[in-house]
Amino acid sequence: MMNLPIRPRRNRKSANIRGLIRETSLSPEHLIYPVFVHEGTGNQPISSLPGCTRWSVKGLVEEAKRLMDLGIRTLDLFPAIPDGKKTPDACEACNPDGLIPRTIYALKSEVPGITVMTDVALDPYNSDGHDGLVEFRSDGTMEILNDDSVEVLCRQALCHADAGADIVSPSDMMDGRVAAIRATLDSEALDDVSIMAYTAKYASALYGPFRGALESAPKEGDKKTYQMDPGNIREALREAQLDEAEGADILMVKPATLYLDVMAAMRKHVTLPIAAYHVSGEYLMIKSAVASGWLDERETVLETLTSIRRAGADMILTYYAPQAAEWLKQR
Ligand code: PBG
Repeated sequence: MMNLPIRPRRNRKSANIRGLIRETSLSPEHLIYPVFVHEGTGNQPISSLPGCTRWSVKGLVEEAKRLMDLGIRTLDLFPAIPDGKKTPDACEACNPDGLIPRTIYALKSEVPGITVMTDVALDPYNSDGHDGLVEFRSDGTMEILNDDSVEVLCRQALCHADAGADIVSPSDMMDGRVAAIRATLDSEALDDVSIMAYTAKYASALYGPFRGALESAPKEGDKKTYQMDPGNIREALREAQLDEAEGADILMVKPATLYLDVMAAMRKHVTLPIAAYHVSGEYLMIKSAVASGWLDERETVLETLTSIRRAGADMILTYYAPQAAEWLKQR
């Protein structure tokens, strides 16, 4: 026998002791479910995101009641807008009778206790498929206009807040939008509406399946002049300082698993809560490996979500939210 007074394995010897010493918890209350709605009747499976659904407003209300029972109490809404309503000025984004305001109203009035979050960005409404307004120059170049876009984003956020949204979540990455949205909401006595800022949103290859689900991919160019370069981490801290100073209530890092270091660094630098978005491509990486029989879905998903929490995220947006809640209930 070795002379070994210090044996870390003693703390792993039973499930009870492992439970006592576990540093990171994961429960349904940490999870936010991103959902897709469309204007039609009936719920459609989304081929680019197997396991996810494009809900009708009515269908989503029914699903939300089931999710409440599972412990998933916060939804983040994304609209599939028909091509005919997409314009270069994205005016449908600010329509008080539009799909998102109607969905917010239905959820808030028919599902007691639900928290509704909305995405603030123009890409689902903009015929150019960009998160901001696009100016095409005579020399063939294009620019995503910052300040003009922020004006529309403020009106969009106001429209969501007026309909009853609890949290508005700007995902557009324009400069100065958090302060501008905060000021707009406050001037309308909507000071109770929270802002979750997409603080460090990287120009990632992993959003492809999401853009497929909404048919919202940019028609021209890419999003690199507003979303962040994957090589940067100091820049994420700079964005975090700005969003905190501008009045954000929650900061977000997106995607999640390739950017755990960004989350951990942000956790050290700011006191605000941090959210992580486990995005469509990350979801599909697991789904496809599972479909091939290569990975165990339950174990892989729970380990992934736990790791995101361990890195510093208080809450996680994930398409796995309902399934994870079910698995956690059985644990
Ligand atoms: C757009 C938006 C995107 C996602 C959330 N909001 C796509 C993009 O920036 O192109 C991606 C979510 C995902 O991939 O799951 N405002």
